[in-house]
Amino acid sequence: MISETEDLEAFLDQSVAADARLDPAASVLRAIAAASVELSGVIGLGQLFGKVGASRESTNTDGDVQKELDVLANDVFVDILARAPVAALVSEELREPLVLDPQAPLVVAMDPVDGSSNIDTNVSIGTIFSILPVRPGAVRVEDHFLQPGRAQVAAGFVIYGPQTSIVLALGDGATQIFTLDRREGRFRQAVHCVAIPPDAAEYSINASNYRHWDDPVRAFIDDCEQGAEGPLKRNHNMRWVGSLVADAYRILLRGGIFLYPGDRRSGYGEGRLRLLYEANPVAFLVEHAGGAATDCVNRILDLEPSGIHARVPLVFGSAGPVDLVAGYHSDPQFSAERSPLFGRRGLMRL
Ligand code: F6P
Ligand code: MN
Repeated sequence: MISETEDLEAFLDQSVAADARLDPAASVLRAIAAASVELSGVIGLGQLFGKVGASRESTNTDGDVQKELDVLANDVFVDILARAPVAALVSEELREPLVLDPQAPLVVAMDPVDGSSNIDTNVSIGTIFSILPVRPGAVRVEDHFLQPGRAQVAAGFVIYGPQTSIVLALGDGATQIFTLDRREGRFRQAVHCVAIPPDAAEYSINASNYRHWDDPVRAFIDDCEQGAEGPLKRNHNMRWVGSLVADAYRILLRGGIFLYPGDRRSGYGEGRLRLLYEANPVAFLVEHAGGAATDCVNRILDLEPSGIHARVPLVFGSAGPVDLVAGYHSDPQFSAERSPLFGRRGLMRL
């Protein structure tokens, strides 16, 4: 195991010294970290930096209105990754994969600024990234990206909040956190080997969608709300920032569960979050911190992506509650469609 280091640079050096195959991924992480220092400055200025929070006429691949910041961040990352060992880039802001250096050993999928609609309100936002090896037999550029998340060589996110921190896992290593020391302009180690508490009673979900959820998700949230008097026999707390990196950061540090399930709204059958550059990197970090991540039932990191911008239902956090949610989905008593028992569930106990 890599021992606690002074800063990101020392961590990457130590990781490569332990396994030279990680060298290209370490170079990509250095590039992402350098770009994020620049972005952190822009984001920290908020309204003072002209139009960063302003909307453009355009929309991204998901139909969200693009902010000036989305486009600026995309350009910063394209520019820096073009000088790193990266064969191609998939970005939430680009419809098609962008070829960089076809001879390079890695590809990167990223959301340059996740949660950009929060910028005007001074809420934490982030850059989420996934680093994959190129696929030797790939015919089309996008084939390099259509691999299950367990193939990731490294993944992580940068959170731009009260602190700017980079949360990453490299190779088989544990999840690490480095915080930008603005006085020195470098990322110093803040948390060595993140370990998610296995069981924590805090849940995170956009509850305004309750009426659109499937029965197993409703049953789980109902039971959380019932607290100590309900079948889970514990009082729960609820937190929803609505910015994936902020909710993920909190859960990595103090446990709990995050759910963005599929729901019955048009276009939300597979939830809201994207497999390649949101769910996969978060799942990688969470597993490397001892937690679990599923699409409600199946392990996220085993899913075969159907397309570069495909969405996926996402549940992650402490292993105990994540397994419990999978249990609600496999137990017929939680589905009205599947069992007449559901209507009488109040009489039953887990
Ligand atoms: O990328 C999408 C995102 O902004 C995430 O950061 C966040 O978890 C989610 O959408 C919030 O969704 P909603 O608008 O339903 O609260
Ligand atoms: Mn996003």
